[in-house]
Amino acid sequence: MPPLDAAKVSTTLEPAVQEPPVNAVPLVDLSGQHAQIAEEVENGFAEVLDAGDFIGGKAVSAFEQEYAEFVGARHCVGTGNGTDALEMALRALRVGLGDEVIIPANTFIATAEAVVRAGARPVFVDVDGDALLIDPGRVDAALTERTRAVIPVDLYGQVAPFEQLPSSLGERGIVVVEDAAQSQGAVRHGRFAGRFGDVAATSFYPGKNLGGYGDAGAVVTDDDGLAESVRLLGSHGSPVKYEHVSFGFNSRLDTLQAVVLRAKLRRLAQWNVERRAAAQVYAELLAGVPDLRLPVALPGNDHVWHLYVVRVPNRDEVLRRLRAEGVGAAIHYPVPVHLTPAMAEFGQGAGQCPVTERAAAEILSLPIFPGITRQQQEQVAGVLLSALG
Ligand SMILES: Cc1ncc(COP(=O)(O)O)c(C=O)c1O
Repeated sequence: MPPLDAAKVSTTLEPAVQEPPVNAVPLVDLSGQHAQIAEEVENGFAEVLDAGDFIGGKAVSAFEQEYAEFVGARHCVGTGNGTDALEMALRALRVGLGDEVIIPANTFIATAEAVVRAGARPVFVDVDGDALLIDPGRVDAALTERTRAVIPVDLYGQVAPFEQLPSSLGERGIVVVEDAAQSQGAVRHGRFAGRFGDVAATSFYPGKNLGGYGDAGAVVTDDDGLAESVRLLGSHGSPVKYEHVSFGFNSRLDTLQAVVLRAKLRRLAQWNVERRAAAQVYAELLAGVPDLRLPVALPGNDHVWHLYVVRVPNRDEVLRRLRAEGVGAAIHYPVPVHLTPAMAEFGQGAGQCPVTERAAAEILSLPIFPGITRQQQEQVAGVLLSALG
């Protein structure tokens, strides 16, 4: 097979020249985090290799317990990734064929994929114009006799306004699943992300605030029965090897990932402090710039800045300039989920979610990660300001 031609696989938003410019500031730099945990990870990996307990090893149950304690929940059940965690949460709640599940249009496609894979139909609602989180005021109008679940998403690092969802949901037998993939360590009105709704699903994809060195995820809940159902689902419906009591598949937290996640969890609070400090620096450097909208934290939220998302006119041109000058900016997400070809059959086309659609043309994620320096942020701000002219 001939080697891949980088120019052919690049998107139009990537710079034509692939050489990284000097002083590049990446969108995310995980090397500083790794340096802090390298020894612990090496020792932990050596223990797993010695014991040969690659599936369901000791580190998995230790991490599950530690993460449940961190969030303040009774149970954490590790999964292979966050998309499976969402799907298994829905399946454990018996959401499936013929059901409708309300989700925000501004999210990563995985939220919708999990719904479709569980057999249900995603119903997209628009977001609020400031925080770009699900607009709870629009949920009522999207409810039908078939609605069985709502999945608010804690996008960009802050918890969605769960308490503002219609109070009738419970009476109507509609369950609430928190998509907490982007909010590890975030707090809303004193409660940690992962404690909202009936059950939460999270992702430990490497770039997340708490990320593994590969795919990983978890379901978090206070409900003993639900936790048990998710564990069965992720392990071929098998409480004991070769006894299959229910339908299932294979989606468990990998032991080596658990080693990494244990080491990182011990530092998560400090890393989130560093993210908050970096967000504050951007807020100072970018204050009062015409044509630039800074991200908004909802009242009551302790934001953990998984992403720092500003809004600008001429976004694609600004993004080109940033990338050409070595700033690893990105878009989360360039196409609203209801408009992606993969979800076209479930959406109602352009105009269904105007706030999301407008935002998709303006949003721009700036580099943010624990350990980003003020000098790097000044470089980002400098290029951004000159691109805005
Ligand atoms: C909001 C959201 N939901 C779900 C997921 C799915 O997680 P994973 O990539 O681990 O399957 C992600 C992350 O990728 C996400 O950002």
